[in-house]
Amino acid sequence: MDSHSRFDTARLRLDPLLPGDAAALFAYRGDDAVARYQGWKPASVADAEAFIAGQGAVPFGTPDAWCQLAVRELASGALLGDLGVHFPATTDDAIEFGVSLRPTAQGNGYAREAMAAMLGQAFGAWGYRRCVGSVDPRNEASIALLRSLGFRQEAHHVESYLFRGEWVDDVIYAMLAREWTGPG
Ligand SMILES: CC(C)(COP(=O)(O)OP(=O)(O)OC[C@H]1O[C@@H](n2cnc3c(N)ncnc32)[C@H](O)[C@@H]1OP(=O)(O)O)[C@@H](O)C(=O)NCCC(=O)NCCS
Repeated sequence: MDSHSRFDTARLRLDPLLPGDAAALFAYRGDDAVARYQGWKPASVADAEAFIAGQGAVPFGTPDAWCQLAVRELASGALLGDLGVHFPATTDDAIEFGVSLRPTAQGNGYAREAMAAMLGQAFGAWGYRRCVGSVDPRNEASIALLRSLGFRQEAHHVESYLFRGEWVDDVIYAMLAREWTGPG
């Protein structure tokens, strides 16, 4: 994998988060609805700045690390959200993605478009054979997104995950390279 990390789709550009994104990142990642099922919720713009600075130290494609890309409107460059990629140690292991959009950008098919671009890369140039998603069963939008892309449910772990002091369920979705039929 090279460290190239700009991907254009019909309407979006996925590229590195920049220091100037901190205020916009905080505005939606700090939103209760967006953060409800997320492990990371910034408490301030400074938290968002620190997160972006930390990402600067993780080259895209670093094994066993989450690399977070900005999801931008292609035409304007405005920050619509972010998409995390967890690169496993080898291409025999499963790659994982996580996407978050600012509330005003949701419901336009942007998450699907961004995820489809990443799946195309993962199963194409990057050579992965399996992609997984781990989601709280109450996160209906995320489950709809995964199903819309063709992910299958493989497991439902009951009260398996301690999240903010509460034991919650964890549902595993997966897709194999041979099951990926394209952005469709
Ligand atoms: C998950 C998330 C990125 C989805 O964004 P989105 O803008 O709704 O996604 P899209 O518009 O691309 O829609 C994808 C599919 O999900 C469906 N969908 C989206 N929200 C839905 C909801 N609340 N209920 C049912 N279906 C929904 C869409 O209709 C679409 O289906 P289709 O392709 O069959 O038409 C967004 O809800 C979000 O940012 N949530 C907060 C962060 C989060 O929890 N992320 C997931 C954890 S990693």
